[in-house]
Amino acid sequence: MRYEKAFELRGGEALLLRSVRAEDAPALAEYLREMDQSTPYLTREPGEIVMDAEWVGRERAFLREREEAGRSLMLLAFHEEKMAGNCFFSPVSARRRLQHRAEFGISVLPCMQGRGLGHLLMETALGLCKGAGFEQAELEVASENLRAVSLYLSLGFEVVGRVPHLFKNGDGGYFDGYKMMRFL
Ligand SMILES: CC(C)(COP(=O)(O)OP(=O)(O)OC[C@H]1O[C@@H](n2cnc3c(N)ncnc32)[C@H](O)[C@@H]1OP(=O)(O)O)[C@@H](O)C(=O)NCCC(=O)NCCS
Repeated sequence: MRYEKAFELRGGEALLLRSVRAEDAPALAEYLREMDQSTPYLTREPGEIVMDAEWVGRERAFLREREEAGRSLMLLAFHEEKMAGNCFFSPVSARRRLQHRAEFGISVLPCMQGRGLGHLLMETALGLCKGAGFEQAELEVASENLRAVSLYLSLGFEVVGRVPHLFKNGDGGYFDGYKMMRFL
């Protein structure tokens, strides 16, 4: 799915939201590396994925598929030409009985958080998701990730279940989680 549009952040700063392109793979590796170091709330441990030249090659092919897929989107935010955030959705499965359900994920670089970018990315992706024919958006989130939970609640998601031990962390401890969803 392809998309591109200029926006302004709450403070009036210029921002570009656009769908991912195959050539974004090296910048995406940098972005994911920084994100993984900065939060315990994503599914990857820091350094778990070695984002070397081979990874970049595979990722390029994957991103090309994303670009061309009709019902999957990886939406990137650029602030002063730097990748600053990312929101994606795809069908929970290709099976017909599951095709009305989209799974979501989001992240924003620490230096850009708390300025409305997460809200803008998610709101835009939800609109595109509806336009692609999905009927509901779903995600899982660590229950102590208050900023993310509050973002989702403000966009109309509801907690529909609890997921004990959503993540098992490197130190052997666990994060419990919520399953959240909203109809589109
Ligand atoms: C969750 C995340 C994407 C939010 O992005 P963001 O750009 O900081 O979000 P916004 O600035 O749009 O704020 C979103 C909401 O968070 C809330 N919020 C902002 N700062 C907060 C804080 N310090 N504590 C609690 N809630 C806060 C506000 O209610 C805001 O809602 P509003 O839009 O109605 O005002 C971002 O913090 C992030 O990338 N976190 C690490 C990765 C992650 O946790 N991803 C989600 C995994 S499920």
